[in-house]
Amino acid sequence: MGKQYYVSPAVLVVLLLAAFVPSCSSSTSSRRFHFNVQWKNISRLCSRKAILTVNGEYPGPTIAVNEGENVEIKVTNGVSINTTIHWHGIKQLRTGWADGPAYVTQCPIRPGQSYTYKFTVTGQRGTLWWHAHIAWQRATIYGAIIIYPRMPYPFSTPIEAEIPIIFGEWWNLPVEGIETEMNKYGSGPNSSDAYTINGLPGSLYPCSDKDTFIQTVEHGKTYMLRIINAALNDELFFTIANHTLTVVEVDASYTKPFDTTAIMITPGQTSTVLFTANQYKHGSTGLFVMAARPYLTTVFPFDNTTTIGFLKYKGTMAEIINLPKPSKVLLPHDLPRMEDHAFATKFSHQLRSLGTTKYPCKVPKKIDKRILITISLNLQDCPANQTCKGYNGKRFAASMNNQSFVRPLTSILEWQYKKYSSKHYSYDFPQKPPHVFDYTGVDPMTHNLNPDFGTKLFAVDYGTKLEIVLQDTSFLNLENHPIHIHGHNFFIVGTGFGNYDAEKDTASYNLVDPPERNTLGVPIGGWAAVRINADNPGVWFMHCHLEEHTSWGLAAGFIVENGANSYQKLLPPPNDLPTC
Ligand code: C2O
Repeated sequence: MGKQYYVSPAVLVVLLLAAFVPSCSSSTSSRRFHFNVQWKNISRLCSRKAILTVNGEYPGPTIAVNEGENVEIKVTNGVSINTTIHWHGIKQLRTGWADGPAYVTQCPIRPGQSYTYKFTVTGQRGTLWWHAHIAWQRATIYGAIIIYPRMPYPFSTPIEAEIPIIFGEWWNLPVEGIETEMNKYGSGPNSSDAYTINGLPGSLYPCSDKDTFIQTVEHGKTYMLRIINAALNDELFFTIANHTLTVVEVDASYTKPFDTTAIMITPGQTSTVLFTANQYKHGSTGLFVMAARPYLTTVFPFDNTTTIGFLKYKGTMAEIINLPKPSKVLLPHDLPRMEDHAFATKFSHQLRSLGTTKYPCKVPKKIDKRILITISLNLQDCPANQTCKGYNGKRFAASMNNQSFVRPLTSILEWQYKKYSSKHYSYDFPQKPPHVFDYTGVDPMTHNLNPDFGTKLFAVDYGTKLEIVLQDTSFLNLENHPIHIHGHNFFIVGTGFGNYDAEKDTASYNLVDPPERNTLGVPIGGWAAVRINADNPGVWFMHCHLEEHTSWGLAAGFIVENGANSYQKLLPPPNDLPTC
């Protein structure tokens, strides 16, 4: 039986008007990208192996967009294992379906399947990045996101060129099975064999002369570095010999510009940094070393090597001479020592939001709720009949408030949206540590607790002004943990060493221009107080961006409920959302 469709003249007028009068949304343009996840054979450090890539590129393609644009990225899984991609730092206002962490906001994209991530880039500008968000695939599946601002840059120096500086970590052996191995034995991962700049380890490593990042610059010109730490497990120091670096933005939020000899950047963090090529002296080679090495805060084995690249001044000897032999390379004297806690602390204290009328700092001055979360590494007693390869024949674990997060085999966001009742997760994430003790003062070996394992979340109402105090603990060892939040930014209102003391420490908060970022290094043996405007409905992952700690469970999830108005609600799921 045929159906009749009838459109009343009034509706027709509305439809015609809609077609001809540009509305806000039709004036925003869309950018489309196609990501094909595929294997690629590449050689590094004298050996050859297949790595997971996007479109065969390593690092992957850059997503360059304008502030305010709609972005659509179709991801096709061309390999035989599950995958997902996360747009790290993109707030995903009401589009949590496009966030990407496996089993949190989506089921993985299965082999041969595609999923199109759709989101709008609003209220952010600068450098961010994207990476796989399942197992350890982000070791090689990562790339830059650049958001060009709607308004001119808040600094006036003309920029000659933009230079990506994406740090990574390289393993000679495959990384794909690392997480499975860790889960099975409770072990730690092997350390990486090299650090890389834009996928290149640099000439200090064997067989790597050709795999060295070299950037040509012109004397007198200013360059914009888009720096991303995509390394899995290591905070890094970075510097360019003789050159002053000016930090102007972190995690896609402008900062008050400040000059520094070097930077400290944790996994997950990004930064836009300017420098002027003004160091060529007549008669010199015109070749300058840039270098990155880890900021060491662990007692466990780690990769203690150094990645280097070079700046070559145009029209100088640098253009014709060979690169110096490894034994002749002088590392920049401003490259901090691996144990330089003082530099790391000073650097993070220099960060301030720009906080102008055009770019106000929207830190919540008053809060509705404060949550205290301890961050711990743990040793779990070895269950009967199991082989455990962590320290002392036990299993390594990591936790927040002694809860070690287990990712369920379902999408939490989808179950939450569809109001399925679930045994997979519960809403009772503890909002304070289960035991009060001297968090940073106990004997790391004897006071270690067996954590509880599970998928516990906490929920807040739309619009909650939330404060989270992240407290490091001395279990196993004190360590700087880069804690990352999805769907929101942190305002870092205070940090300190030792145990947080609400009465004393709130008095010293910066509620004027605290730095705004999606990942912050909680000081080694200390605490950080962060504030969040919980105005993005959805389910959001919060975790340590050291991949080994995430694998051990140093994570939690939180839910921001829908608000009362239609524009405060999560959008419906897209039709092509993967199923588990
Ligand atoms: Cu950069 Cu949850 O990740």
